[in-house]
Amino acid sequence: MKELQEYFKKRKYLFFISVLVMFLFCCKAAQTLIPSNYDVKVAQARWQTSNIDELTKGYNIYENQCTDCHDAKEIKDYSEADWIKIMKTMGHKAKLDSTQYNAVLHYVLVKRQTLTAGNK
Ligand code: HEC
Repeated sequence: MKELQEYFKKRKYLFFISVLVMFLFCCKAAQTLIPSNYDVKVAQARWQTSNIDELTKGYNIYENQCTDCHDAKEIKDYSEADWIKIMKTMGHKAKLDSTQYNAVLHYVLVKRQTLTAGNK
């Protein structure tokens, strides 16, 4: 009986640890994708009218509408030239209007740039 109790205690502990690890892992992955102030600076250096609202809109579309048919693709797996081409087909598939299209395009290009430059 005592052994059984010990066994469950240990299992509980292991369960708790694995939930914690998963939680930390998820948060870390998500945080790197949310547009940061640094991303806004990078965006504005390229498109004067870009701002946090535009990048956040792009991020939300990327996470929600762009995942209708597949998981969110790894942004840094594609070059800038790839993304420009990809967005021509995918923007159409996701039925984006021109504002949404630019928001997603700016979001992925900026995120790609900041992720590949050491994730600032
Ligand atoms: C109507 C369905 C649909 C929607 C909506 C959609 N995609 Fe896709 N996407 C596909 C299919 C089908 C493929 C090819 C199979 C695959 O790679 O999963 C693909 C492939 C891709 C690829 C890989 C391209 C390659 O050459 O490797 C990327 C990146 C991508 N999509 C990004 C997006 C983005 C960003 C959005 C939102 C603007 C989006 N997709 C919305 C259907 C869709």
